[in-house]
Amino acid sequence: MNVKSFVSIRDFVPSELESLLTLGRQIKARPDLYARALQGKTLAMIFEKPSLRTRVTFDVGVQQLGGFSLYLSPAEINLGKRESVYDVAKNLERMVQGIMIRTFAHEIVEEMAQYASIPVINGLTDFSHPCQAMADYMTMWEIKGGLEGLKIAFVGDGNNVAHSLMFAGALLGAEVRVATPRNYEPRADAIRWAQQRASETGGSCWVTNDVKAAVCGVDVVYTDVWASMGQEDQAAERREVFRGWQVNFELFRRAKRDAIFMHCLPAHRGEEVTNDVMDSPRSVVFQQAENRLHVQKAIMLELMKDVPVGRMHPVTMPELVHA
Ligand code: CP
Ligand code: NVA
Repeated sequence: MNVKSFVSIRDFVPSELESLLTLGRQIKARPDLYARALQGKTLAMIFEKPSLRTRVTFDVGVQQLGGFSLYLSPAEINLGKRESVYDVAKNLERMVQGIMIRTFAHEIVEEMAQYASIPVINGLTDFSHPCQAMADYMTMWEIKGGLEGLKIAFVGDGNNVAHSLMFAGALLGAEVRVATPRNYEPRADAIRWAQQRASETGGSCWVTNDVKAAVCGVDVVYTDVWASMGQEDQAAERREVFRGWQVNFELFRRAKRDAIFMHCLPAHRGEEVTNDVMDSPRSVVFQQAENRLHVQKAIMLELMKDVPVGRMHPVTMPELVHA
């Protein structure tokens, strides 16, 4: 791979995403073959927001590869307040072989990757959730047997999950339709990027305020919460705005007969999705969650395999500098 870190899907070319997905599937099929692949290496996991899946899958994933993990809670690091992103990066690169970070501003992950000499993995920002998109496309690939031309409708808020789904879909040749209420569309630069790249891969990306049109004849119906982490104060207002955007059976039946339902989770049952859709035989949400583990093992392996443990950093000798 040409990149050191996993910050955004936009940093990759289609063949790199495809080989990560292939490696994810190989690891899933034969985890025993990779049990020592990251022996002795440590992943520091910085969390500034809550998590179930990201925390557990990175934690278990690195251990299944023979490595260790270190959970750093929001209170512990207090990024940018107790200590600058630069200083955290410069400390951690001397102690661990990789950093996973879940935070608010996307720029924090970009800065961390810029300053740290070790790989940095984006575990969700307000802007994107690239590891989620990788697990999502791995799941679609498993079930649908391919990704090119696959029709995916993302229904709800044009949020971090929507952005990464658009980016990866564009690179992998899928047709991604995003249906949101007015003023909740994905970011304009994200739409432009996805449309540009999709035009090169045979995929497409379009955004609409017509949810029924978006879901019509698709292979995949995908939704996410209406208020993301950090938007808790807007939850009541959003419940009103998104009222007509629930994925229930009336909407889901507009998709293909063999369409699947996807959700990154956590789900707010009864809001963005009804129980009958979430628990139906067409729902693959828990397979999706499991695939976080396998595909992130592929990402960690690819990025961290060549980072040595106990690497020597230059010893600073200030008196010599000034001699
Ligand atoms: N889908 C996902 O990232 O879940 P968590 O917020 O529980 O990590
Ligand atoms: N959009 C959601 C995704 C959670 C995995 C959030 O950011 O809270």
